Parts: sequence; structure tokens; C-alpha cells
Amino acid sequence: MASTREWFETVEEARRRARRRLPRSVYMALVAGSEKGVTLQDNVAAFSELRFAPPHIADLPAARDLATSVLGQDIALPVIASPTGVQAVHPDGEVGVARGTAEAGTAMGLSSFGSMPVEAVAEVNPKLFFQLYWSGSKDQMVQRTERARQAGAKGLIVTLDWSFSNGRDWGSPAIPEKIDLRALIRLAPEGITRPGYVRDWLTHGGLPDLTVPNMGVPGEQAPTFFGVYGEWMQTPPPSWDDIAWLREQWGGPFMVKGVMRPDDARRAIDAGATAISVSNHGGNNLDGTPASIRALPGVADAVGGQAEVLLDGGIRRGSDVVKAVALGARAVMIGRAYLWGLAANGSAGVRNVFDVLRGGIDSTLLALGHSAISELSPDDVIVPAEFSRGLHK
Ligand SMILES: Cc1cc2nc3c(=O)[nH]c(=O)nc-3n(C[C@H](O)[C@H](O)[C@H](O)COP(=O)(O)O)c2cc1C
Repeated sequence: MASTREWFETVEEARRRARRRLPRSVYMALVAGSEKGVTLQDNVAAFSELRFAPPHIADLPAARDLATSVLGQDIALPVIASPTGVQAVHPDGEVGVARGTAEAGTAMGLSSFGSMPVEAVAEVNPKLFFQLYWSGSKDQMVQRTERARQAGAKGLIVTLDWSFSNGRDWGSPAIPEKIDLRALIRLAPEGITRPGYVRDWLTHGGLPDLTVPNMGVPGEQAPTFFGVYGEWMQTPPPSWDDIAWLREQWGGPFMVKGVMRPDDARRAIDAGATAISVSNHGGNNLDGTPASIRALPGVADAVGGQAEVLLDGGIRRGSDVVKAVALGARAVMIGRAYLWGLAANGSAGVRNVFDVLRGGIDSTLLALGHSAISELSPDDVIVPAEFSRGLHK
């Protein structure tokens, strides 16, 4: 959606605007987290414990190269959009994320719980990775991944770190199964305080229908989020052999998302993963696990260059990206940061977030005296004792 709203200079400002613009229940769905929020907070706080080596002041590079590749796709900066269900955040939805990331020259992951058909998203950003949970029968999984492949998805992300944690101390938003008259009456008080949000939806043809089209069969009525969540809860968790089967049937670039342990990283590689993401699902799963950045050095060590290593969780600024790359990540994935941008200003807000990160990465590289992200190493970062919280054992 074309927009004249102002550019924001930090991800934190995007968050503030998202909070002002979204109805409380939608904003709280983005805050997410689980239980006491220990992991949610640690994902962000851990970056502040890492410091940079003192900057150089002369002989600095005149230009910096931020480009790399992930799952075979060239990207202009080492940041891609992590898959998230962006239900109801903004009418631009996943197509808006596709536009913002395409304009930024990077790739995106599309959640199987997303609100827009994979065909429409891939058309806008062909650098698309489809994300699947282990849900339903193997036939259903094949049907869903084949549909994504037909649509042009270039890679598959299988997310394994979900154990159906429920409850958070700050309360879970009451999300209706669908937006019918009863739901509208219940949500009306929130809508009245957020007229801009309601207007955006109404001028785009109506309120979100909260369905998940990529989990259904094309041409049939799309299932609801909660219907599919039920299917997922009833599906027995996969074995590593199951993951190897999925990898085999997909055949292309394949990422295992949610790896926090060196032994699991090695098993993912044995199962054929071409990439892994060191991730605790943005603090939305088992609360009390350490920040993902604390696990990164140990996992990167275990992988030893046999697969691409990504990191997601807590990235809020360009210097966070630089810290992650210095400690062994090829690139990072962001979740809340672009969701806040999308909420604040549609696809332009997504682009804005990537531009903020690009600027931050570039200025950090300049200060550290590097002309390319490939020059980063652990020597650029001061890691305090006990940073890994015993994770390397
Ligand atoms: C609202 C929300 C929805 C998410 N939905 C998914 C999803 O459908 N699939 C998935 O693999 N990860 C999902 N995630 C996790 C993100 O992909 C990513 O791991 C996490 O957001 C990274 O942390 P950050 O938000 O601090 O950047 C979701 C995260 C949030 C906040």
C-alpha cells in the first residue's frame, strides 16, 4: 500500500507506532512470548552483554559489502524475514512483507499459518522460503510443500521447536475463530480506540478472515487457524528419520529451524539439512531456555561449515546483526521487527525496518574497519565469561 506516513529511524520507534496503531489484542499477539517471558527478554538482553572491540579511527574502508546468500538466494544484506503468522496486523499482510523484502533486496520465509496464498506472495518476492510445521499426514505435508514448490518457493523451512506451551503472565489475546457478528461486537471497543487500523482494513475490502489458505486445498474453503492448530496438536512429533524423509521428498534447499543444541545441529545435518536456524522461536516456546545468541557459537562450532548457520531471536538493530555474524551466523532472520514495521506502515514499514538494519550494519562495519561482512570474526566482539550459560558443554 502506498503511504505517506513518516519514515522511522529505529526498530524501537516502529514498535511504538505499532502499539499506538494496533488494537490491544493484535499488538499483544505480536508481543507473544510464553510463561514468565524469561527467554523472550533474554533474547534481547543478551545482545547488550556483547560489546565491540574498540573502533578504528583511520584506514577505514570507503565502501562496505553487505551481500551474501541464503539457501541459494543472493541477498543484499545478511537479514531475511523469518516466517510468522501475520494474521490481522495490516491488510498488506504477507504480500506487504514480500514487497518490503523484495525492495530491500532480500528473501522471506512464509509461514504455513500465514494469511495469504503462497502463489500471491511468491509473485511479489520470488526469493521465498516456505515454512512448514510437522502437522497432518505425510500426504498432506507432500501436498502442501508441492503446492509451495509449484508457486515458486526456493527453499523449505521446517520448524521443529514447538511444544504447545500455553499461557503467559501478561495474558493471551482472545483471538476469535472467525470475524462474525459476535466477534465484531466483542472487538468493537478495541476498534473504536484504533480508527486508523479499522479504516485501513475497511478500505481494503473488509476485516481479516483469520483463515490459513496454505494449509488447505486450493479451490476449497480455506481452513481456520484454530482448526489447523488442532490438527497440528494431534500429530505425533517427528523422528529424525521423518525429517530425513521430508528433506528427501523436497529435494531442494532445506532449513531446520529451532536448533539450540550442538547435538541437534549435527543430527539435522545428518538428516540432510542445508541450513539451520539457531532459534528458540523468539521466546514463544519453552520458557527459561537461554537467548539464541548464547547458543550460536557452540552450534556454529558443531556445524563446522557443513551447513549454513542462521540465527533468529532478539535482533533489533544493525549492530545485533553484526554481533551474530561475527559469532558464526551467515545471516539472521527477524520476526517482531518487521511485524512492527508492517503494522506501523504496511510494506513501506517493512522496507523501512530493513533499511534501518542495513544502515546499522554498514556503520558498524565502518567503525570496525571491515569492508565486507565476510571479514567479521569473533575478535570483533567482546564476549563476557559465562555468556553461553553452560551451553557449550
Ligand atoms: C507473532 C509471531 C508469530 C510467529 N509465527 C511463526 C510461524 O508461523 N512459524 C515459525 O517458524 N516461526 C514463527 N514465529 C517465530 C519467528 O519466525 C522467529 O523465530 C522469531 O520471531 C524471532 O525472534 P524475534 O521476534 O525476536 O526476531 C513467530 C513469531 C512471532 C512473534
